[in-house]
Amino acid sequence: MAEKFVLSPLAKKTCEHCPLKRSRFVRKQVPTEVYPLRGKGRMADVMFIAEAPGRVENETGRPFIGGTGKILRQLVHRINDGTQRGVAYGNIVRCRPVDEDDVFKDRPPTKRERDSCKRNILRDVMKINPSYIVLLGKSAAVGLAYDRVTGEPVDPKAKVFNLRGKEYIVKTPDGREFPAIITFHFAFISRMPNMAGVFEEDIRRAFFRSRGLISDYSERGKPTVVVDTVPRVRSLLKHMATKLGPDDVVALALHRLRWLDRDQTTGGPSPWPTCP
Ligand code: URA
Repeated sequence: MAEKFVLSPLAKKTCEHCPLKRSRFVRKQVPTEVYPLRGKGRMADVMFIAEAPGRVENETGRPFIGGTGKILRQLVHRINDGTQRGVAYGNIVRCRPVDEDDVFKDRPPTKRERDSCKRNILRDVMKINPSYIVLLGKSAAVGLAYDRVTGEPVDPKAKVFNLRGKEYIVKTPDGREFPAIITFHFAFISRMPNMAGVFEEDIRRAFFRSRGLISDYSERGKPTVVVDTVPRVRSLLKHMATKLGPDDVVALALHRLRWLDRDQTTGGPSPWPTCP
C-alpha cells in the first residue's frame, strides 16, 4: 500500500457554529486522506469528495473505508495501476450526521452543517492542489460545484443524474478554480448495481482527464486501454497471449510515441526499440 498522509486536523474555530459539534454520536472528526505524489507540485492527480463519514469512518477516523466506501477504493486501485498513489479522499463534512431518533441511521448533512465545515475541505483542496476533483453525490455537488461557463452554483434541487456528464469548477478562497465532475455517491451504486458501469466510466474519465489523455471530461470514445508505461505494455502482451485466438485481429492505436523512448517507471532508457 502506498504511504498515506493525513492532513492536519481542524482549527476548532470552524466547528463553533456547527450543530454536529454537540452531537453525542460523533466520536472523531474524519480528516482528508491523501496518498501523495512526490515532486510534481501537487499531492494528488484526483481528489474524491463525498458527503460525510458513516459508522465505520466515525469509529476509525478514516474516510471511505466502510462497506460502500471500499467499492470506490477498490475501483480506484484497479484503474490507478494497483496503487492509491496520487489519490485523495475527503468529505464535505468531517463528522458523522445521524438521525436523532435512530442513531444507527446516517442522514445527509444539512446546509448549515455543510456550510460550517466547507472551509476545511477547501483548505485541503488548496494544499493538495489536485489536477481533477470528483464530487460524489448531491451534498458534495451542491456544496462545492459551480457551473464552468456561468460561474453560478449548481441548482440545489437538481438530481445527480442530471448534473453528471459535464465539467464544473470548485472555487477555493485563494481565487483558484479546479476542474471537477459530479457523479453518483458510492452508496447509491451499492444499491443500484446496474449503474456501476456508468460510475466506473466517470471515474476512469476523471483519471484520463487528470493525466491529459482526454481534453474534456465529456469526450466520448471507444473504450480505450491506455498502455503508456513499459510494465503496462508487458502486461497487455501477456493478457493478449492468453485471451486471443489464432484468428483474432488486434489494432493498436499508438499515440504519443515518444513516451516509449523512456521507461516511465524507472526513467531510464526503454528496453523497447526507439520510435522513429
Ligand atoms: N460516505 C461518505 O460520504 N463518506 C465516507 O467517508 C463514508 C461514507
